[in-house]
Amino acid sequence: MSGLFITLEGGDGVGKSTQAELLERWLTARERTVLRTREPGGTDVGEQIREIVLHHRGDIAPRAEALLYAADRAHHIATKVRPALEAGSVVVQDRYIDSSVAYQGAGRVLSGDTIRDLSLWAVDGLLPDLTVLLDLDEASARQRLDAAEKRFDRLEAEKQEFHARVRAAYLELAASDARFLVVDAARAPEEIAAEIRGRVEQLLD
Ligand code: TYD
Repeated sequence: MSGLFITLEGGDGVGKSTQAELLERWLTARERTVLRTREPGGTDVGEQIREIVLHHRGDIAPRAEALLYAADRAHHIATKVRPALEAGSVVVQDRYIDSSVAYQGAGRVLSGDTIRDLSLWAVDGLLPDLTVLLDLDEASARQRLDAAEKRFDRLEAEKQEFHARVRAAYLELAASDARFLVVDAARAPEEIAAEIRGRVEQLLD
């Protein structure tokens, strides 16, 4: 494949979409074709799955939830992301396999390895060239979400303790894999963007 696959990860409220937008703008200015996309969602089928996983009232059995995210991912990668990478685009994607490992794993019912294997099967092994982990403590992330007065979806409404486990899971993943760039998300957006650009520039050269 000739494109570049970049994913953004982190807890809710860490500023992933702001960074995705800044990165897209910078890449476009450098005359790269960019596909900016997200999971869950990103396709028609995916938007329907997104509605179920984020807004369904009541519990979803953990294995069913893991399969829903994996189904969304399978369709998204097969129909949008792989074709874009094959055409040489830079894909800037909000959330991917690491979200499943961190969030569904933090539910403590399924192991991180099981979830990772399920997702990898779903996408036929496609891993990102770079994963940017925006790291922020749970209390600051919560303050940002409160300030934005967003309607909380199922996962955002989870207890602070759950979000602490999600953060720890992300940091553990990042520590064991060179595809990660961990950035301190407490800084100004432009400072964070510059750090991300530095790494992307190396990959483009
Ligand atoms: P996101 O799109 O970042 O939320 P928003 O658009 O509201 O900012 O993510 C939605 C939620 O989905 C988020 O709380 C994390 C969760 N999620 C998982 O639990 N597993 C997954 O595999 C993915 C992709 C997301």
